[in-house]
Amino acid sequence: MRAMVVDRYGKVPMRLAEIPTPEIGEYEVLAEIHAASINPIDFKIRDGKVKLLVKYKMPLILGNDFSGVVAKVGAKVTRFKVGDEIYARPRKSKIGTFAEYIAIHEDDIALKPKNLSFEEAASVPLVGLTSYQALTDILHLQKGQKILIQAGAGGVGTFAIQLAKLMGATVATTASEAGANLVKSLGADTIINYKTEKFEELLKNYDAVFDTLGGEILEKSFEVIKSGGKVVSVSGLPNARFGKEYGSGFFKTLLFSAASHKLTALEKKHHVQYTFLFMKPSGEQLRVIANYIETGKIKPVIDKVFPFEDAQKAMEYAESGRAKGKIIVKIR
Ligand SMILES: NC(=O)c1ccc[n+]([C@@H]2O[C@H](COP(=O)([O-])OP(=O)(O)OC[C@H]3O[C@@H](n4cnc5c(N)ncnc54)[C@H](OP(=O)(O)O)[C@@H]3O)[C@@H](O)[C@H]2O)c1
Repeated sequence: MRAMVVDRYGKVPMRLAEIPTPEIGEYEVLAEIHAASINPIDFKIRDGKVKLLVKYKMPLILGNDFSGVVAKVGAKVTRFKVGDEIYARPRKSKIGTFAEYIAIHEDDIALKPKNLSFEEAASVPLVGLTSYQALTDILHLQKGQKILIQAGAGGVGTFAIQLAKLMGATVATTASEAGANLVKSLGADTIINYKTEKFEELLKNYDAVFDTLGGEILEKSFEVIKSGGKVVSVSGLPNARFGKEYGSGFFKTLLFSAASHKLTALEKKHHVQYTFLFMKPSGEQLRVIANYIETGKIKPVIDKVFPFEDAQKAMEYAESGRAKGKIIVKIR
């Protein structure tokens, strides 16, 4: 099969390679991939930035979510059959969606939302699961609560705004002028132009923050939260609590604890809870998300679709950090 691979960690371009189609395990299906989406995790993995959390063998096929069709099923697969149209985020040890086929565990898959094209469906799994896990599993966002979602025009932000509105929250978000109309159309109640305004001076007494930017922006986000509120970040530093829950072992947990000491101090100062989220695959949650999409409650936002041969260009476009919604690679 054809696949886009990198040969080593670092800022190396992907190359198109001919490699054997994967064998499937008894609980896996072989999926014929129709479309995949680009996520910043692709270039973070390539750059070796997530080595502390997951290590990969080279050459490595990048790509962390997709839509496609079941081409073969393992002997113990019970929930899917050949011909099913599916979408998924494979588990971290089995990534590689910039390819014609992938072997994937049936627990990680759901049927693709019927009202979406393959390109639209491929845009959903990683950002949909990330938003769902942040807002539901960690923040337990309630009707009437106020949430700040950082970078509302991005892949995660465009999904998270719609989900937060669906959950009955009031949503503030940061965007540049170029993203303002988009986030408004998704339901954002307050839009802060991050280039000309300071969100930390404009927002007060928020129940929750969903941060996708990390660094100083995450640190300033603590200022808008009320006592007892919650901050979840997908771009900040993992803390000791994450290390223990993720089973990172003593030394890595100690490292996380030392690196995140500033965030721990901010937690205490503002009486809020900080959680670092490293999203997980889940076919079950993708089924819930498919239902939101099929009932018209959430719509994918696509910035651009690239042909398979141009996957490297798609990656470079994503790396510019300016995408409005999702970038898709059409595989077939
Ligand atoms: N830990 C996890 O499990 C996990 C899961 C998913 C994502 N993530 C991380 O979350 C981050 C966001 O992912 P994504 O897919 O949403 O990225 P993305 O689509 O590339 O985000 C691009 C968007 O960010 C906006 N932006 C950039 N700087 C901003 C700022 N200072 N304030 C407000 N908006 C800003 C840009 O708007 P303008 O062009 O208008 O400036 C653009 O619309 C990435 O770092 C990714 O790795 C982590």
